[in-house]
Amino acid sequence: MHTLIAEAKNCTEPKEDIQIKGWIRTRRDAKGFSFLEINDGSCLAGMQCIVDTGTEAHDALADANTGSSVSIQGKLVASPGNKQKWEIQVQKLVILGEAKQENYPLQKKRHSDEFLRSIAHLRARTNKYGAMFRLRSEAAFAIHTFFHERHFTYVHTPILTGSDCEGAGELFRVTTLPPNAPRNAHDFFSKQCNLTVSGQLEAETLACALGRVYTFGPTFRAENSNTPRHAAEFWMVEPEVAFSDLNDIMRLSEEFVQTIIQSLFKSSLDDLTLFDSYVEKGLLKRLEKFATTPFAKLPYAECIELLKKSKEKFVYPPEFGIDLATEHERFLTEEIQGPIIVYDYPKAIKSFYMRDNTDQTTVAAMDVLMPGIGEIIGGSQREERFDVLMQKMQQLNLNAENYWWYTDLRKFGTVPHAGFGLGFERLLMLVTGVNNIRDCIPFPRTPGSLEF
Ligand code: 4AD
Repeated sequence: MHTLIAEAKNCTEPKEDIQIKGWIRTRRDAKGFSFLEINDGSCLAGMQCIVDTGTEAHDALADANTGSSVSIQGKLVASPGNKQKWEIQVQKLVILGEAKQENYPLQKKRHSDEFLRSIAHLRARTNKYGAMFRLRSEAAFAIHTFFHERHFTYVHTPILTGSDCEGAGELFRVTTLPPNAPRNAHDFFSKQCNLTVSGQLEAETLACALGRVYTFGPTFRAENSNTPRHAAEFWMVEPEVAFSDLNDIMRLSEEFVQTIIQSLFKSSLDDLTLFDSYVEKGLLKRLEKFATTPFAKLPYAECIELLKKSKEKFVYPPEFGIDLATEHERFLTEEIQGPIIVYDYPKAIKSFYMRDNTDQTTVAAMDVLMPGIGEIIGGSQREERFDVLMQKMQQLNLNAENYWWYTDLRKFGTVPHAGFGLGFERLLMLVTGVNNIRDCIPFPRTPGSLEF
Protein backbone atom coordinates (compact mmCIF):
# COMPACT_ATOMS: atom_id res chain seq x y z
CA MET A 1 0.00 0.00 0.00
CA HIS A 2 1.05 3.59 -0.48
CA THR A 3 2.28 5.72 2.40
CA LEU A 4 0.01 8.41 3.84
CA ILE A 5 1.48 11.89 3.94
CA ALA A 6 0.88 11.96 7.70
CA GLU A 7 3.10 8.86 7.96
CA ALA A 8 5.73 10.22 5.56
CA LYS A 9 5.97 13.42 7.62
CA ASN A 10 6.92 11.34 10.63
CA CYS A 11 9.76 9.50 8.91
CA THR A 12 13.03 9.81 10.79
CA GLU A 13 15.30 9.10 7.85
CA PRO A 14 15.25 9.43 4.05
CA LYS A 15 13.70 6.66 1.96
CA GLU A 16 14.93 5.39 -1.38
CA ASP A 17 11.44 4.44 -2.48
CA ILE A 18 8.14 5.85 -1.35
CA GLN A 19 4.70 6.00 -2.94
CA ILE A 20 2.03 8.53 -2.06
CA LYS A 21 -1.41 9.19 -3.54
CA GLY A 22 -3.49 12.32 -3.28
CA TRP A 23 -4.79 15.44 -5.02
CA ILE A 24 -2.73 18.25 -6.48
CA ARG A 25 -3.25 21.38 -4.44
CA THR A 26 -0.85 23.60 -6.34
CA ARG A 27 1.45 23.28 -9.28
CA ARG A 28 4.27 25.67 -10.01
CA ASP A 29 6.50 25.32 -13.07
CA ALA A 30 10.06 26.57 -12.75
CA LYS A 31 13.08 26.33 -15.01
CA GLY A 32 14.17 22.70 -15.08
CA PHE A 33 11.45 21.29 -12.81
CA SER A 34 7.89 21.58 -11.52
CA PHE A 35 6.79 21.82 -7.89
CA LEU A 36 3.66 19.97 -6.88
CA GLU A 37 1.98 20.20 -3.53
CA ILE A 38 0.04 17.01 -2.87
CA ASN A 39 -2.55 16.64 -0.14
CA ASP A 40 -4.17 13.33 0.76
CA GLY A 41 -6.35 14.48 3.65
CA SER A 42 -4.40 12.54 6.27
CA CYS A 43 -3.01 15.77 7.74
CA LEU A 44 -3.13 19.49 7.18
CA ALA A 45 0.26 19.80 5.51
CA GLY A 46 0.85 18.64 1.96
CA MET A 47 3.91 16.93 0.53
CA GLN A 48 6.14 18.94 -1.77
CA CYS A 49 7.11 16.92 -4.83
CA ILE A 50 9.77 17.88 -7.38
CA VAL A 51 9.40 16.67 -10.96
CA ASP A 52 12.40 17.30 -13.23
CA THR A 53 11.67 18.40 -16.78
CA GLY A 54 12.70 16.00 -19.48
CA THR A 55 11.61 12.96 -17.45
CA GLU A 56 8.72 10.62 -18.16
CA ALA A 57 7.10 11.75 -14.94
CA HIS A 58 7.16 15.32 -16.22
CA ASP A 59 5.61 14.28 -19.51
CA ALA A 60 2.81 12.64 -17.53
CA LEU A 61 2.19 16.01 -15.88
CA ALA A 62 0.88 17.54 -19.11
CA ASP A 63 -2.77 17.25 -18.01
CA ALA A 64 -2.18 17.66 -14.27
CA ASN A 65 -3.74 20.62 -12.53
CA THR A 66 -5.20 21.67 -9.22
CA GLY A 67 -7.68 19.00 -8.14
CA SER A 68 -6.26 16.13 -10.23
CA SER A 69 -5.64 12.90 -8.36
CA VAL A 70 -2.17 11.42 -8.70
CA SER A 71 -0.02 8.51 -7.71
CA ILE A 72 3.60 9.46 -7.11
CA GLN A 73 6.64 7.31 -6.58
CA GLY A 74 10.09 8.58 -5.78
CA LYS A 75 12.73 9.30 -3.15
CA LEU A 76 11.94 10.89 0.19
CA VAL A 77 14.77 13.35 0.80
CA ALA A 78 15.48 16.15 3.25
CA SER A 79 13.97 19.34 1.85
CA PRO A 80 16.34 22.28 1.38
CA GLY A 81 13.38 24.63 1.97
CA ASN A 82 12.67 25.57 5.58
CA LYS A 83 8.90 25.08 5.33
CA GLN A 84 9.02 21.30 5.37
CA LYS A 85 11.30 18.56 6.62
CA TRP A 86 10.84 16.18 3.67
CA GLU A 87 10.12 16.38 -0.01
CA ILE A 88 9.81 13.78 -2.74
CA GLN A 89 11.98 13.66 -5.83
CA VAL A 90 9.53 12.14 -8.25
CA GLN A 91 10.50 9.18 -10.42
CA LYS A 92 7.12 7.98 -11.53
CA LEU A 93 3.88 9.92 -11.76
CA VAL A 94 0.47 8.71 -12.88
CA ILE A 95 -2.54 10.94 -13.20
CA LEU A 96 -5.43 8.90 -11.81
CA GLY A 97 -8.16 11.45 -12.49
CA GLU A 98 -8.01 14.81 -14.23
CA ALA A 99 -9.87 17.84 -12.88
CA LYS A 100 -11.10 19.93 -15.76
CA GLN A 101 -9.99 23.41 -14.83
CA GLU A 102 -12.86 25.30 -16.41
CA ASN A 103 -15.31 23.43 -14.13
CA TYR A 104 -13.30 22.79 -10.99
CA PRO A 105 -14.87 25.03 -8.35
CA LEU A 106 -11.97 24.96 -5.87
CA GLN A 107 -9.51 27.41 -7.27
CA LYS A 108 -6.50 28.64 -5.33
CA LYS A 109 -8.21 31.75 -3.95
CA ARG A 110 -10.03 31.79 -0.60
CA HIS A 111 -13.71 30.88 -0.93
CA SER A 112 -16.52 32.04 1.33
CA ASP A 113 -18.15 29.56 3.74
CA GLU A 114 -21.49 30.18 2.01
CA PHE A 115 -20.05 29.18 -1.36
CA LEU A 116 -18.32 26.14 0.12
CA ARG A 117 -21.61 25.00 1.66
CA SER A 118 -23.03 24.88 -1.86
CA ILE A 119 -20.26 22.43 -2.82
CA ALA A 120 -20.29 20.33 0.34
CA HIS A 121 -19.19 17.30 -1.71
CA LEU A 122 -15.86 19.03 -2.40
CA ARG A 123 -15.28 21.33 0.55
CA ALA A 124 -13.45 18.69 2.62
CA ARG A 125 -10.59 19.16 0.13
CA THR A 126 -9.90 22.65 1.47
CA ASN A 127 -7.55 23.14 4.40
CA LYS A 128 -10.27 24.49 6.67
CA TYR A 129 -12.83 21.76 6.14
CA GLY A 130 -10.23 19.01 6.03
CA ALA A 131 -9.10 20.26 9.44
CA MET A 132 -12.70 20.48 10.70
CA PHE A 133 -13.55 16.91 9.76
CA ARG A 134 -10.32 15.51 11.14
CA LEU A 135 -11.03 17.38 14.38
CA ARG A 136 -14.52 15.89 14.38
CA SER A 137 -13.01 12.45 14.22
CA GLU A 138 -10.39 13.16 16.89
CA ALA A 139 -13.00 14.70 19.19
CA ALA A 140 -15.22 11.61 18.78
CA PHE A 141 -12.28 9.39 19.63
CA ALA A 142 -11.45 11.54 22.68
CA ILE A 143 -15.07 11.26 23.83
CA HIS A 144 -15.04 7.47 23.64
CA THR A 145 -11.69 7.41 25.44
CA PHE A 146 -12.96 9.72 28.19
CA PHE A 147 -15.88 7.44 28.98
CA HIS A 148 -13.99 4.22 28.46
CA GLU A 149 -11.36 5.28 30.98
CA ARG A 150 -14.13 5.94 33.49
CA HIS A 151 -15.84 2.55 33.05
CA PHE A 152 -18.85 3.81 31.13
CA THR A 153 -20.56 1.35 28.81
CA TYR A 154 -21.26 2.67 25.30
CA VAL A 155 -24.90 1.88 24.54
CA HIS A 156 -26.87 2.24 21.32
CA THR A 157 -30.31 3.72 21.69
CA PRO A 158 -32.96 3.63 18.95
CA ILE A 159 -33.25 6.21 16.20
CA LEU A 160 -36.88 5.30 15.53
CA THR A 161 -38.97 5.91 18.63
CA GLY A 162 -42.55 5.93 19.77
CA SER A 163 -42.00 8.27 22.71
CA ASP A 164 -41.11 11.92 23.00
CA CYS A 165 -38.31 12.79 25.39
CA GLU A 166 -38.24 16.57 25.27
CA GLY A 167 -41.92 17.24 24.63
CA ALA A 168 -41.25 20.32 22.59
CA GLY A 169 -43.22 19.31 19.49
CA GLU A 170 -40.06 19.08 17.43
CA LEU A 171 -40.56 15.59 16.13
CA PHE A 172 -39.91 14.32 12.64
CA ARG A 173 -42.61 11.83 11.86
CA VAL A 174 -41.68 8.61 10.07
CA THR A 175 -44.31 6.75 8.12
CA THR A 176 -44.57 4.21 5.33
CA LEU A 177 -48.04 5.39 4.40
CA PRO A 178 -48.63 7.40 1.21
CA PRO A 179 -49.55 11.08 1.80
CA ASN A 180 -53.25 10.56 1.01
CA ALA A 181 -53.71 7.37 3.05
CA PRO A 182 -57.04 7.06 4.92
CA ARG A 183 -56.92 7.99 8.60
CA ASN A 184 -57.35 4.42 9.79
CA ALA A 185 -54.74 2.92 7.40
CA HIS A 186 -52.27 0.54 8.98
CA ASP A 187 -48.87 2.16 9.43
CA PHE A 188 -45.66 0.14 9.77
CA PHE A 189 -45.44 0.13 13.56
CA SER A 190 -49.17 0.40 14.24
CA LYS A 191 -48.41 3.54 16.21
CA GLN A 192 -46.85 6.90 15.56
CA CYS A 193 -43.14 6.67 14.87
CA ASN A 194 -40.67 9.55 15.14
CA LEU A 195 -36.98 10.13 14.69
CA THR A 196 -35.46 10.41 18.14
CA VAL A 197 -34.78 13.82 19.69
CA SER A 198 -32.65 12.22 22.42
CA GLY A 199 -31.57 8.77 23.53
CA GLN A 200 -31.97 9.72 27.17
CA LEU A 201 -35.06 7.76 28.20
CA GLU A 202 -33.63 4.50 26.90
CA ALA A 203 -30.19 5.40 28.27
CA GLU A 204 -31.79 5.79 31.71
CA THR A 205 -33.07 2.22 31.60
CA LEU A 206 -29.59 0.97 30.70
CA ALA A 207 -27.91 3.10 33.38
CA CYS A 208 -30.28 1.51 35.87
CA ALA A 209 -28.72 -1.83 34.99
CA LEU A 210 -25.17 -1.11 33.87
CA GLY A 211 -24.43 1.82 36.17
CA ARG A 212 -22.62 4.27 33.93
CA VAL A 213 -23.56 4.44 30.26
CA TYR A 214 -23.36 6.89 27.39
CA THR A 215 -24.84 7.19 23.94
CA PHE A 216 -23.27 8.99 21.01
CA GLY A 217 -25.41 9.18 17.95
CA PRO A 218 -27.51 11.29 15.60
CA THR A 219 -30.60 13.13 16.85
CA PHE A 220 -33.27 14.97 14.91
CA ARG A 221 -35.27 18.06 15.73
CA ALA A 222 -37.75 19.85 13.53
CA GLU A 223 -37.12 23.20 15.19
CA ASN A 224 -37.99 25.77 12.64
CA SER A 225 -35.36 28.12 13.98
CA ASN A 226 -32.97 28.99 11.22
CA THR A 227 -30.15 30.01 13.53
CA PRO A 228 -26.40 29.43 13.23
CA ARG A 229 -26.61 27.12 16.29
CA HIS A 230 -29.46 24.79 15.28
CA ALA A 231 -29.40 21.87 12.91
CA ALA A 232 -32.26 19.48 12.14
CA GLU A 233 -29.83 16.56 12.36
CA PHE A 234 -27.04 16.75 14.90
CA TRP A 235 -25.00 14.39 17.03
CA MET A 236 -25.44 14.18 20.74
CA VAL A 237 -23.36 12.60 23.49
CA GLU A 238 -25.52 11.54 26.42
CA PRO A 239 -23.94 10.06 29.54
CA GLU A 240 -26.31 8.71 32.17
CA VAL A 241 -25.10 7.76 35.64
CA ALA A 242 -26.90 5.67 38.24
CA PHE A 243 -26.44 6.56 41.92
CA SER A 244 -25.60 10.18 41.10
CA ASP A 245 -27.13 13.60 41.59
CA LEU A 246 -27.04 17.04 40.00
CA ASN A 247 -23.71 17.97 41.59
CA ASP A 248 -22.05 14.83 40.28
CA ILE A 249 -23.25 15.51 36.79
CA MET A 250 -22.19 19.16 36.88
CA ARG A 251 -18.70 18.06 37.87
CA LEU A 252 -18.68 15.40 35.18
CA SER A 253 -19.74 17.89 32.47
CA GLU A 254 -16.91 20.24 33.41
CA GLU A 255 -14.30 17.49 33.51
CA PHE A 256 -15.65 16.18 30.22
CA VAL A 257 -15.38 19.45 28.28
CA GLN A 258 -11.96 20.21 29.75
CA THR A 259 -10.57 16.75 29.01
CA ILE A 260 -11.76 16.79 25.40
CA ILE A 261 -10.10 20.18 24.81
CA GLN A 262 -6.87 18.90 26.36
CA SER A 263 -6.98 15.75 24.22
CA LEU A 264 -7.36 17.83 21.06
CA PHE A 265 -4.36 19.93 22.03
CA LYS A 266 -2.38 16.69 22.12
CA SER A 267 -3.81 15.02 19.01
CA SER A 268 -4.62 17.91 16.67
CA LEU A 269 -2.52 20.99 17.36
CA ASP A 270 -1.85 21.67 13.65
CA ASP A 271 -5.53 21.63 12.78
CA LEU A 272 -6.45 23.76 15.81
CA THR A 273 -3.72 26.24 14.91
CA LEU A 274 -5.27 26.72 11.47
CA PHE A 275 -8.47 27.90 13.15
CA ASP A 276 -6.46 30.16 15.45
CA SER A 277 -4.76 31.74 12.41
CA TYR A 278 -7.71 32.08 10.04
CA VAL A 279 -10.96 31.91 12.00
CA GLU A 280 -10.48 33.29 15.50
CA LYS A 281 -7.27 34.94 16.57
CA GLY A 282 -6.42 33.94 20.14
CA LEU A 283 -8.49 30.74 19.96
CA LEU A 284 -5.77 28.51 21.44
CA LYS A 285 -5.24 30.82 24.40
CA ARG A 286 -8.96 30.93 25.04
CA LEU A 287 -9.29 27.16 24.85
CA GLU A 288 -6.35 26.68 27.17
CA LYS A 289 -8.08 28.91 29.70
CA PHE A 290 -11.36 26.97 29.40
CA ALA A 291 -9.47 23.70 29.83
CA THR A 292 -7.78 24.74 33.05
CA THR A 293 -10.07 27.19 34.88
CA PRO A 294 -12.97 25.83 36.94
CA PHE A 295 -16.37 26.69 35.43
CA ALA A 296 -18.50 29.17 37.34
CA LYS A 297 -21.69 27.71 38.83
CA LEU A 298 -24.73 29.83 39.49
CA PRO A 299 -28.38 29.04 40.27
CA TYR A 300 -30.84 30.28 37.64
CA ALA A 301 -32.48 32.65 40.14
CA GLU A 302 -29.17 34.40 40.78
CA CYS A 303 -28.56 34.68 37.04
CA ILE A 304 -31.90 36.44 36.68
CA GLU A 305 -30.89 38.86 39.44
CA LEU A 306 -27.57 39.53 37.68
CA LEU A 307 -29.39 40.20 34.42
CA LYS A 308 -31.90 42.48 36.11
CA LYS A 309 -29.20 44.50 37.84
CA SER A 310 -27.26 44.96 34.61
CA LYS A 311 -27.65 48.11 32.55
CA GLU A 312 -28.17 46.09 29.37
CA LYS A 313 -31.31 46.69 27.30
CA PHE A 314 -32.60 43.18 26.65
CA VAL A 315 -35.20 42.43 23.99
CA TYR A 316 -36.69 39.87 26.40
CA PRO A 317 -36.78 41.43 29.89
CA PRO A 318 -35.30 39.03 32.46
CA GLU A 319 -37.90 37.69 34.89
CA PHE A 320 -37.93 34.52 36.98
CA GLY A 321 -39.67 31.95 34.82
CA ILE A 322 -38.36 32.89 31.37
CA ASP A 323 -36.17 30.64 29.32
CA LEU A 324 -32.73 32.23 28.97
CA ALA A 325 -32.42 33.73 25.48
CA THR A 326 -29.21 34.07 23.48
CA GLU A 327 -28.82 37.68 24.63
CA HIS A 328 -28.99 36.59 28.29
CA GLU A 329 -26.55 33.74 27.79
CA ARG A 330 -24.16 36.10 26.07
CA PHE A 331 -24.36 38.62 28.88
CA LEU A 332 -23.77 35.98 31.55
CA THR A 333 -20.74 34.39 29.86
CA GLU A 334 -19.27 37.82 29.14
CA GLU A 335 -19.87 39.02 32.69
CA ILE A 336 -18.26 35.88 34.08
CA GLN A 337 -15.70 35.85 31.26
CA GLY A 338 -15.81 32.13 30.87
CA PRO A 339 -17.96 29.02 30.95
CA ILE A 340 -20.83 28.99 33.40
CA ILE A 341 -23.08 26.22 34.63
CA VAL A 342 -26.57 27.51 35.36
CA TYR A 343 -28.66 25.22 37.56
CA ASP A 344 -32.00 24.87 39.36
CA TYR A 345 -34.25 26.11 36.58
CA PRO A 346 -37.95 26.87 37.02
CA LYS A 347 -39.99 23.71 36.76
CA ALA A 348 -42.45 25.26 34.32
CA ILE A 349 -39.92 25.62 31.48
CA LYS A 350 -38.25 22.23 31.80
CA SER A 351 -39.03 18.64 30.82
CA PHE A 352 -41.21 16.20 32.73
CA TYR A 353 -38.38 13.85 33.72
CA MET A 354 -36.37 16.41 35.74
CA ARG A 355 -36.33 15.97 39.49
CA ASP A 356 -38.43 18.40 41.54
CA ASN A 357 -36.46 20.39 44.09
CA THR A 358 -37.86 20.78 47.59
CA ASP A 359 -38.86 24.41 46.87
CA GLN A 360 -41.54 22.99 44.49
CA THR A 361 -40.78 25.72 41.92
CA THR A 362 -37.46 24.58 40.50
CA VAL A 363 -36.02 21.35 39.15
CA ALA A 364 -32.52 19.87 39.43
CA ALA A 365 -31.55 20.86 35.89
CA MET A 366 -28.37 22.42 34.58
CA ASP A 367 -27.04 23.95 31.35
CA VAL A 368 -23.41 24.58 30.49
CA LEU A 369 -23.05 27.93 28.69
CA MET A 370 -19.93 28.81 26.75
CA PRO A 371 -18.83 32.28 25.67
CA GLY A 372 -19.70 32.99 22.04
CA ILE A 373 -21.85 29.88 21.66
CA GLY A 374 -24.29 29.70 24.54
CA GLU A 375 -25.60 26.33 25.62
CA ILE A 376 -23.50 23.33 24.69
CA ILE A 377 -24.78 20.96 27.39
CA GLY A 378 -28.18 20.43 28.97
CA GLY A 379 -28.71 17.92 31.75
CA SER A 380 -30.49 17.09 34.97
CA GLN A 381 -31.04 14.76 37.85
CA ARG A 382 -33.98 12.54 36.90
CA GLU A 383 -37.19 12.20 38.88
CA GLU A 384 -36.73 8.75 40.40
CA ARG A 385 -39.79 8.86 42.73
CA PHE A 386 -42.67 6.99 41.12
CA ASP A 387 -45.51 9.04 42.59
CA VAL A 388 -43.88 12.36 41.86
CA LEU A 389 -43.08 11.35 38.28
CA MET A 390 -46.65 10.17 37.64
CA GLN A 391 -47.99 13.42 39.01
CA LYS A 392 -45.65 15.47 36.82
CA MET A 393 -46.68 13.55 33.73
CA GLN A 394 -50.30 14.07 34.54
CA GLN A 395 -49.80 17.80 34.99
CA LEU A 396 -48.19 17.97 31.54
CA ASN A 397 -50.92 15.86 29.94
CA LEU A 398 -48.50 13.13 28.96
CA ASN A 399 -50.06 9.77 28.30
CA ALA A 400 -48.50 7.58 31.00
CA GLU A 401 -49.34 4.46 28.96
CA ASN A 402 -46.73 5.42 26.40
CA TYR A 403 -44.11 5.60 29.12
CA TRP A 404 -44.98 2.43 31.06
CA TRP A 405 -41.48 1.04 30.68
CA TYR A 406 -39.95 4.33 31.81
CA THR A 407 -42.11 4.54 34.90
CA ASP A 408 -41.49 0.82 35.60
CA LEU A 409 -37.89 1.76 36.39
CA ARG A 410 -39.23 3.73 39.34
CA LYS A 411 -41.13 0.70 40.59
CA PHE A 412 -38.32 -1.82 40.55
CA GLY A 413 -35.21 -0.82 42.45
CA THR A 414 -35.32 2.87 41.67
CA VAL A 415 -32.13 4.87 42.26
CA PRO A 416 -31.14 8.51 42.09
CA HIS A 417 -29.62 9.07 38.67
CA ALA A 418 -28.59 11.94 36.45
CA GLY A 419 -27.18 12.68 33.02
CA PHE A 420 -26.63 15.28 30.36
CA GLY A 421 -26.54 15.81 26.61
CA LEU A 422 -23.74 17.55 24.76
CA GLY A 423 -24.37 18.87 21.26
CA PHE A 424 -21.36 17.53 19.37
CA GLU A 425 -21.42 20.23 16.67
CA ARG A 426 -21.64 22.93 19.34
CA LEU A 427 -18.51 21.46 20.92
CA LEU A 428 -16.84 21.71 17.50
CA MET A 429 -17.95 25.33 17.20
CA LEU A 430 -16.29 25.92 20.56
CA VAL A 431 -12.97 24.31 19.70
CA THR A 432 -12.68 25.84 16.21
CA GLY A 433 -14.22 29.29 16.72
CA VAL A 434 -16.46 28.59 13.69
CA ASN A 435 -19.71 30.46 14.24
CA ASN A 436 -22.09 28.47 12.06
CA ILE A 437 -23.14 24.92 12.89
CA ARG A 438 -23.50 24.21 9.15
CA ASP A 439 -19.74 24.30 8.87
CA CYS A 440 -19.10 21.72 11.62
CA ILE A 441 -20.98 18.79 10.06
CA PRO A 442 -20.14 17.44 6.60
CA PHE A 443 -23.67 17.56 5.21
CA PRO A 444 -25.82 19.96 7.23
CA ARG A 445 -29.58 19.50 7.43
CA THR A 446 -31.41 22.74 8.20
CA PRO A 447 -34.89 24.05 7.33
CA GLY A 448 -35.26 24.08 3.54
CA SER A 449 -31.89 22.45 2.96
CA LEU A 450 -31.50 18.76 2.16
CA GLU A 451 -28.87 18.74 -0.58
CA PHE A 452 -26.24 16.01 -0.77
O1 4AD B 1 -30.79 20.52 26.25
P1 4AD B 1 -31.21 19.40 25.36
O2 4AD B 1 -32.50 19.53 24.63
O3 4AD B 1 -31.17 18.10 26.28
C1 4AD B 1 -31.63 16.87 25.97
O4 4AD B 1 -31.95 16.48 24.88
C2 4AD B 1 -31.52 15.91 27.12
N1 4AD B 1 -32.35 14.77 26.83
C3 4AD B 1 -30.09 15.55 27.33
C4 4AD B 1 -29.85 14.62 28.49
O5 4AD B 1 -30.04 15.03 29.61
N2 4AD B 1 -29.47 13.40 28.22
O6 4AD B 1 -30.08 19.13 24.28
C5 4AD B 1 -28.76 18.83 24.67
C6 4AD B 1 -27.78 19.58 23.81
C7 4AD B 1 -27.91 21.09 23.87
O7 4AD B 1 -27.23 21.62 24.98
C8 4AD B 1 -27.25 21.51 22.57
O8 4AD B 1 -25.85 21.54 22.71
C9 4AD B 1 -27.61 20.39 21.65
O9 4AD B 1 -27.97 19.27 22.44
N3 4AD B 1 -28.73 20.74 20.77
C10 4AD B 1 -28.61 21.04 19.47
N4 4AD B 1 -27.52 21.11 18.70
C11 4AD B 1 -27.72 21.44 17.40
N5 4AD B 1 -28.91 21.68 16.84
C12 4AD B 1 -30.04 21.60 17.60
N6 4AD B 1 -31.23 21.82 17.02
C13 4AD B 1 -29.91 21.28 18.98
N7 4AD B 1 -30.79 21.12 20.00
C14 4AD B 1 -30.04 20.78 21.07
